Amino acid sequence: MTGGSLRFRIRDLAPGDLDGVMAIEQESFPTPWSRALFEEEIGRRFSDAIVVVGEPGGEVAGYAICWTVGEESHLLNIAVRPDARNRGVGRSLLRECIRRSALAGGRRIYLEVRPSNEPAIRMYRRDGFRFVGVRKGYYTDTGEDAIVLSRVIGEKNAE
Ligand SMILES: CC(C)(COP(=O)(O)OP(=O)(O)OC[C@H]1O[C@@H](n2cnc3c(N)ncnc32)[C@H](O)[C@@H]1OP(=O)(O)O)[C@@H](O)C(=O)NCCC(=O)NCCS
Repeated sequence: MTGGSLRFRIRDLAPGDLDGVMAIEQESFPTPWSRALFEEEIGRRFSDAIVVVGEPGGEVAGYAICWTVGEESHLLNIAVRPDARNRGVGRSLLRECIRRSALAGGRRIYLEVRPSNEPAIRMYRRDGFRFVGVRKGYYTDTGEDAIVLSRVIGEKNAE
């Protein structure tokens, strides 16, 4: 993947990425995850925790966390550093989550998104996610409902 003059690489989240991840998390969400929550994802058996890093330099440009339990996968978190957005990084992370979820046995993937989050909703819809429901008052900071999106995944995504 290329983006401007930078090249990007996706790999497993590692402890040394946490400062970069936390900086992005805090800029991206009104109620950010704690550092401890990210630490728990490293090496968790049913979690795919990935980062995209710029090369050269290895600076964290984004990350995603996805769980697969049985045939169900759940995208829990995804964010891209503000200055790296709109260059295909988010889409690459999403596709890698789907590929890894399929390898882990997932047949369908779910996620929640704020109705006001147009960039994210566009990204998900472009990758085949469709509306499956609403969770009332899901976001405790604003009381906003969550839109639940889902799509089928399968072995062909794991190729
Ligand atoms: C959502 C997010 C991860 C997208 O990352 P990104 O790297 O900018 O996305 P990409 O460049 O891969 O774009 C993928 C698609 O997303 C959509 N998109 C991205 N940015 C957009 C914007 N500002 N407005 C509208 N659509 C947008 C487009 O459909 C785009 O496809 P296109 O380029 O073919 O039009 C990023 O905006 C982000 O980190 N937001 C804050 C955290 C967040 O909201 N996470 C999701 C929580 S559910």
